[in-house]
Amino acid sequence: MSAADPSSFASAAKCVSRHLNLSLRVDFDARVIRGKVALTLEVLEDRFSCLTLDTRDLKIISVSANGQEARFDTGAKHAFKGTPLEITLPFELSRGQNVIVEVSYETSPGAPALQWLTPQQTAGKKHPYLFSQCQAHHCRSMLPCQDTPAVKHTYYAQVSVPKDLVAAMSAVRDGREADPRDAARAVYRFRQNVAVPSYLIALVVGALESRQIGPRSSVWSEAEYVDRAAFEFSETEAMLKTAEDLAGPYVWGRYDILVLPPSFPYGGMENPCLTFATPTLLAGDKSLSNVIAHEIAHSWTGNLVTNETWEHFWLNEGHTVYLERMIGRRLEGEPFRQFKASGGWKDLRDSVSTFGAENPLTNLVPDLREVDPDDAFSSVPYEKGFALLYHLEELLGGPEVFMGFVKSYIQTFAYGSVTTGQWKDFLFTYFKDKADVLNKVDWNAWMFTPGMPPVKPRYDTALADACVALCRRWTEAKERDLSGFGAADVERLSSHQLVEFLSLLLQEEPLPLSHVKKMQEVYDLDARTNSEVRFRWLRLCVRSRWEEAVPAALRMATEQGRMKFTRPLFREVFHFEKYREEAVRVFLDSRAAMHPVTSGLVAKDLKVTAQP
Ligand code: BES
Ligand code: ZN
Repeated sequence: MSAADPSSFASAAKCVSRHLNLSLRVDFDARVIRGKVALTLEVLEDRFSCLTLDTRDLKIISVSANGQEARFDTGAKHAFKGTPLEITLPFELSRGQNVIVEVSYETSPGAPALQWLTPQQTAGKKHPYLFSQCQAHHCRSMLPCQDTPAVKHTYYAQVSVPKDLVAAMSAVRDGREADPRDAARAVYRFRQNVAVPSYLIALVVGALESRQIGPRSSVWSEAEYVDRAAFEFSETEAMLKTAEDLAGPYVWGRYDILVLPPSFPYGGMENPCLTFATPTLLAGDKSLSNVIAHEIAHSWTGNLVTNETWEHFWLNEGHTVYLERMIGRRLEGEPFRQFKASGGWKDLRDSVSTFGAENPLTNLVPDLREVDPDDAFSSVPYEKGFALLYHLEELLGGPEVFMGFVKSYIQTFAYGSVTTGQWKDFLFTYFKDKADVLNKVDWNAWMFTPGMPPVKPRYDTALADACVALCRRWTEAKERDLSGFGAADVERLSSHQLVEFLSLLLQEEPLPLSHVKKMQEVYDLDARTNSEVRFRWLRLCVRSRWEEAVPAALRMATEQGRMKFTRPLFREVFHFEKYREEAVRVFLDSRAAMHPVTSGLVAKDLKVTAQP
């Protein structure tokens, strides 16, 4: 452990959780989980008798230590860290001893980790649905714990749910039985025997079905999505094998995928044994499967080797994007990796310009004291992190050599948590013969300076050239040139290239309205259902002040809730002066049905005051 975690109250220097035993009862009527969590803590100091756990909006009912009642107190509520739970043991312990602290509690209906859906909000319309999203600092609103990625523990869970519903967790299933206390309910059991940080605890309850897609994989979702999901993610086993070949053995046993309802706020979430995925990945042609490659890659970078605090988040995401693109390289070829990498550089430019080039949150390693990790989230840790790794790859001898380093980094720090300093020390040790090269890197500019990186890596443009050329034709076209455009322009472009073409246009001055209307006439982009295409197309239309696109943009912003799409779509309409109020009105109307984290962030984006 180095410096304390600025996003947590937990006293991880005094004791660390080694195992959590959870008994949870999911109550859909009250929208709460009633639970008991027994934390096995290893004591790190002598004369130990008090500890602090993270909580947020939890009702604490009782606390015991080794079966004896313990005193507890809650501190003042912090805006995003929640409320510290201070526990005093009825005895003293010494360094090296263990103690089991058991807390009985109840969550609140507004818990940011949980979204409770009514049957109306599900595909099947018959049953309610619950899912969790704990990353980064929301686990504390689901259960009291040391909610810092510096601490890792195994877990076991028993979850009681209405017997028509299925529960799943980020763990291996350990059985299902009738609830001995309630004939209307069933108890599901789970075990996670690999130590994980709290943010990787995940729970879903709903009318779920599954279909096997590989020797260690099934897809899970409501019946309505399950066949489409099985088709879309059929490359899973090939990706797992490729990842193992690159990074070492897969230690988690199963790799299942859960397709969530449309309000799931992320593209994917690397919950161990059970990746959570947005239904917006169901393009029908497997073209968005890189998100699955990405979540698979987290099985090594993130879940085995974990960032010690959210200030070192780039260690999770930068290495994962690097591995994701190495998987892409094996399966699709090097030109595809180069194409994705140059697209990533553009995403980085977008994030830097959204935050502002002087904004300290655009540092690769930001200072998160008094910063909500949800507010700090952007493409920066992903793409500045990837760019640094790719730059090092170029300097140190190419992809094979650099992947050797990444694999060795994984082996060295597996099952632990790391800081940027430890990563850098290991880099210098691994490449000790190339110290002259490493010493020329401007580390301070890469890591602790806002804005774009000090060096732009060179990417091969073979697949991007066609996108750049078409973008230029449109931006340079005069009214009288429009008749020269035709469906053939895009016929040979893959959906990845279409996305790139639209992204390039979004970096330019808005096209005249006549141009966008012509683009619709010749390319019929309105008919495209690929979510990455549709998202950019609608932004482009709104930006060119095409009024008919406004309702479509707001519909996409509300019919699905992936923040990557929903936030920019709302912002785009908000910046169209004439429809600013409409954006706010639509948001206020849909807010109650939105995911709590999404609605909080969109409220900030639209300058609407937070809900009481
Ligand atoms: N771990 C992230 C999602 C996340 C990050 C959730 C921070 C909460 C806080 C996940 O692995 C991710 O990066 N998803 C991306 C996938 C993309 C980069 C391929 C997404 O959601 O779009
Ligand atoms: Zn990720």
